[in-house]
Amino acid sequence: MHSSLVRALVSVALLWNALSASSTRRYPEDNHPFELTIYRDAHSLKCSYHTFRRAQTFRGLPEGGYSDISLTRSGDERLQFISHDPEALRQHAWSLCGVQDRGVGQDLSEAVLQATSDTFELDTGSWLSSVHGVPDLANLSYPPLQVEPLIISGSSDNRVDLVFFSDGYLREEKAKFLEDATRLANDISGNQTFDTVKPLLNFWAAFSPSNESGIGTGGKPKDTPFGLYRDGTELRGVYYSKPDAARAACFALGDRCDYPILMGNDPFYGGLGGEFTVITPSLANGALVLRHELGHSIIDVGEEYDGGYAYFGVNAAHDLSVPWTHWLSNFSHTHGTDNIRVERSVMPMQAYAWTMLNTTEPWSVRFNSSGRYPRHLVRFSLSGLPDEDDLSVVIDGNRLPWSPRPDIGVDRWHYDIHRSESLAEGEHELSFTLENGNREGIAQLCSAEILEFGDETEFIADSGYYGVFPTFSEKNKTSYRPTNEDCLMRQVTTPNFCKVCIEGLWLSLLRRVDLIDDLRLGCQWELDTESPDKPSPVGKWKRTLELDLIPLAQFRAGGSATQESYAITWVKDGHILENFTNRTSLEVDDEDALGHYTISVRFTTTEVRMDRDGLLHSEWRHAVRSTCGEALKKIQ
Ligand SMILES: *[C@@H]1O[C@H](CO)[C@@H](O)[C@H](O)[C@H]1NC(C)=O
Ligand SMILES: *[C@@H]1O[C@H](CO)[C@@H](O)[C@H](O)[C@H]1NC(C)=O
Ligand SMILES: *[C@@H]1O[C@H](CO)[C@@H](O)[C@H](O)[C@H]1NC(C)=O
Ligand SMILES: *[C@@H]1O[C@H](CO)[C@@H](O)[C@H](O)[C@H]1NC(C)=O
Ligand SMILES: *[C@@H]1O[C@H](CO)[C@@H](O)[C@H](O)[C@H]1NC(C)=O
Ligand SMILES: *[C@@H]1O[C@H](CO)[C@@H](O)[C@H](O)[C@H]1NC(C)=O
Ligand SMILES: *[C@@H]1O[C@H](CO)[C@@H](O)[C@H](O)[C@H]1NC(C)=O
Ligand SMILES: *[C@@H]1O[C@H](CO)[C@@H](O)[C@H](O)[C@H]1NC(C)=O
Ligand SMILES: *[C@@H]1O[C@H](CO)[C@@H](O)[C@H](O)[C@H]1NC(C)=O
Repeated sequence: MHSSLVRALVSVALLWNALSASSTRRYPEDNHPFELTIYRDAHSLKCSYHTFRRAQTFRGLPEGGYSDISLTRSGDERLQFISHDPEALRQHAWSLCGVQDRGVGQDLSEAVLQATSDTFELDTGSWLSSVHGVPDLANLSYPPLQVEPLIISGSSDNRVDLVFFSDGYLREEKAKFLEDATRLANDISGNQTFDTVKPLLNFWAAFSPSNESGIGTGGKPKDTPFGLYRDGTELRGVYYSKPDAARAACFALGDRCDYPILMGNDPFYGGLGGEFTVITPSLANGALVLRHELGHSIIDVGEEYDGGYAYFGVNAAHDLSVPWTHWLSNFSHTHGTDNIRVERSVMPMQAYAWTMLNTTEPWSVRFNSSGRYPRHLVRFSLSGLPDEDDLSVVIDGNRLPWSPRPDIGVDRWHYDIHRSESLAEGEHELSFTLENGNREGIAQLCSAEILEFGDETEFIADSGYYGVFPTFSEKNKTSYRPTNEDCLMRQVTTPNFCKVCIEGLWLSLLRRVDLIDDLRLGCQWELDTESPDKPSPVGKWKRTLELDLIPLAQFRAGGSATQESYAITWVKDGHILENFTNRTSLEVDDEDALGHYTISVRFTTTEVRMDRDGLLHSEWRHAVRSTCGEALKKIQ
């Protein structure tokens, strides 16, 4: 093609894109609902602040909207409402925060009547605040943020975005923060944990310099943006003292902040889940804490380990009607709950000791065994104990061979000692004795547990086996989980979720992400190759529709994943355009292009077996109402 002609066509394409941009919208409906979040005191019910904005895609939003209530660490209620109907949200806001000042109810109801849906979106902040003095979260102050992309797969309005916020990193430690965040993002998405869903995620790092390096101890935060601290010096929880700053910082990033991660500059174990995921960049524990806490918040599941109190979500059942029958290894033999077998196991002892060890007196515990199980496991976690000789672990007078994870130093780690012998009926004692006095003050027993199992036919411990495994709560109440130790929600040292959680992960993410990123309309001038020597080029317009899909299946960056596929169907005025099946672009003669198009995209992956809400399917419609020729005449 002549370069001048190419230039002309490019400019036509640009003009055309400008023209058609407004006609490209998310289908089948405007998928961006409104979101109202209110924080209020759980006792006085006084609203402290609110936010209102357009949320990102929420697919399969129930008719009455979505709502969620959670308690923040300071004991406030966090109420979140998502709805396509701003009027419904306004009423929520009013009923929750509207009557706290005497005498304003009247004003408010007038304000409600006067505000139209359109102005509501713009005015809601001043509407609530001017009438009630309930501040907008957007007005709270937050530290300066230098936002850097870490791993970006697409536009934030159609991705789930995770943001690392820095705490305890000095201005000159920015490079370390970026290194730490990059390492953790790669660890949890490079080749494991979140790798298969990575095209649905973005990772960002938001740097704010701290005045002091590190995190606080003894319950006292340092001079840092979010005021992270430990209760004592022992390696356990890491808490934050400036939740408002963290909320406002995340809010300020808009669509780019779905899951805020506060990272405290400390080399050792520690963290917290909930509204904010709090982690440290500990080499041994940073990724471990991060992926476990993200499992809670993204998949919305509880624990799988014993001794907890919250067991819920796709990986938990409280009776034998388990929600993962479609994953059971013995599924073909399973008919109803009658044939569902619970793996035979019992937990005679479990303790979150969180105790500093000393050489004067061992930490010990007595428990009873029924004597009816042929195998048992002694499970514990420790910190501040880098050497085997520092600690003796003794059960009924027998010293157990434990050896610290190499290079663990004083960081926390988890140990399992499997014993193929029966605990005799009656009382037993397990004790932990600190042998090295120099470790006093750092040596800590974090947790200890005894589990007993039936034989190999009664309890299938193999990885990859999906069944019904009993989990025991802090009150020794039994619930069920799908695998023995395949899931990081139980065994925090494994880097992966079980298949049941992975399926839940896909479904949670695809509720907030549409498989179709965009549908682009264009016009292309097709040169008539029969007569290339004519003085001016002869040709005709072609109408193009191009589909941008989330890069899964054959569009994955690393090449096609064989266990995934996209099936794409183009329908025009009710007829399937067979020739374009499974193609991402459609090209038709301009004069034949007018009509109603439906583009249906179905994603299949072996990681999802049950998709009740049709989240792996997306359908967009678009009407082409004018030809390229006509549109160009209008431009000229
Ligand atoms: C929030 O900030 C805007 C703009 O600065 C201001 O108009 C509004 O009054 C503030 N609202 C509250 C509740 O502080
Ligand atoms: C992922 O990569 C890390 C670091 O290279 C490695 O330690 C780990 O074994 C890999 N995991 C898998 C599942 O390949
Ligand atoms: C650091 O100190 C300055 C000056 O005292 C203060 O204005 C700023 O808020 C502090 N920054 C943080 C993150 O605490
Ligand atoms: C699987 O089903 C078969 C046939 O019902 C049964 O004999 C076997 O014990 C089952 N295995 C497990 C682990 O449940
Ligand atoms: C939990 O209950 C089982 C069954 O009653 C019992 O054998 C076990 O010892 C109990 N464990 C604890 C820690 O109380
Ligand atoms: C030593 O540890 C034991 C077991 O945790 C505890 O009961 C005891 O109070 C500790 N003694 C001192 C002096 O801290
Ligand atoms: C073990 O069982 C015996 C007999 O029932 C009881 O006296 C004892 O207190 C139990 N020990 C523990 C640690 O529960
Ligand atoms: C389209 O792709 C799907 C998924 O790979 C496949 O099952 C189907 O046979 C393909 N259809 C055509 C017509 O190639
Ligand atoms: C589909 O493709 C075939 C072969 O390229 C062509 O002959 C036929 O006209 C096409 N059909 C339509 C409806 O475009």
